[in-house]
Amino acid sequence: MSQRVFSGIQPSGTLHLGNYLGAIKNWVNLQDKHESVFCIVDLHAITALQNPEELRKKTLEMAKIYLAAGIDPEKSTIFVQSHVPEHAELAWILNTITKISELERMTQFKDKSSENKQNINAGLFNYPVLMAADILLYDTNLVPVGEDQLQHVEIARTLARRFNSTFGETFVIPEPSIVKEGMRIMGLDDPMKKMSKSAPSEYNYIALTDSPEKIREKIKRAVTDSGRQIKYSDDQPAIKNLLNIYALLDNARPAEIASAYRGKGYAEFKKDLAEIVVGFLEPFQKRYNSIDDQDVLQTLEDGKEKAKKMAGEKMGAVREKMGLA
Ligand code: TYM
Repeated sequence: MSQRVFSGIQPSGTLHLGNYLGAIKNWVNLQDKHESVFCIVDLHAITALQNPEELRKKTLEMAKIYLAAGIDPEKSTIFVQSHVPEHAELAWILNTITKISELERMTQFKDKSSENKQNINAGLFNYPVLMAADILLYDTNLVPVGEDQLQHVEIARTLARRFNSTFGETFVIPEPSIVKEGMRIMGLDDPMKKMSKSAPSEYNYIALTDSPEKIREKIKRAVTDSGRQIKYSDDQPAIKNLLNIYALLDNARPAEIASAYRGKGYAEFKKDLAEIVVGFLEPFQKRYNSIDDQDVLQTLEDGKEKAKKMAGEKMGAVREKMGLA
């Protein structure tokens, strides 16, 4: 039976291969089987101070990335979070059933507030509640995300159950959807930390906009393990990570790739991996550059209408159940 899929990405920072392999690639597969809704979460992005012009530009760029990656507006709904005010409204309501202690446990809040001590705002603290609102407004069954968002999907499940038991059956309980090899793509400069757009060095990540020369240079410089062999194992986390990237882009299994390189050196493996990445990103960037801004704006306008209809119906039920209407 077809299920509803919902996911989103913040229009801030540089989108990297981790975002693509952990989330967007999975979305593209899911949209063929399920009714899918993909959001650009600008209200989440403003939990860090944004330049307004820059935010508007990044929002449009993110929509283009979705399209260039293969999200098809004929199959999926693509829209901007702030265009549908029900997200903020439901977030407020869910805040009233969220315990402060639940939010204090969120590792992303702890990480983000320690990275940016000058701006530990209430929005950053309540961020998972807004994410729960995003998910619950659309009767979502599946939430395709990377591992770092699992704790947030878990709180969405908790809030859905709590609301249902307090006010009556209203929300679907969502499940995360994870691709094992892609759920946690690690930094190229440090295989113990996830690839991240806020990493201090650009050698941590491959941006979706990197040129072929840059990609080759970054992969050449990627750290490797002290062993000599190419094998898919937890005691070689750097090579394991590179094998995951290779396998996901080549639609193969990491262990198969590893056995194809048995007896070969890291240099040869990295050279081939660089060509696999270039072979994916070059056509991706061509598609990205050929997308017309006016078409994207129209796609977002159409998406807004579709999303408003779904979200409006759900909010009507929520207000009714709570005595707000
Ligand atoms: P964001 O914008 O930080 O990241 C977008 C997606 O990329 C995944 N990801 C990774 N996956 C694998 N390896 C990595 N190194 C890596 N880095 C990032 C993230 O897990 C995510 O799936 N709060 C969310 C956005 C959001 C959302 C939602 C997601 C808002 N509302 C509702 C799903 C449903 C976020 O900040 O993701």
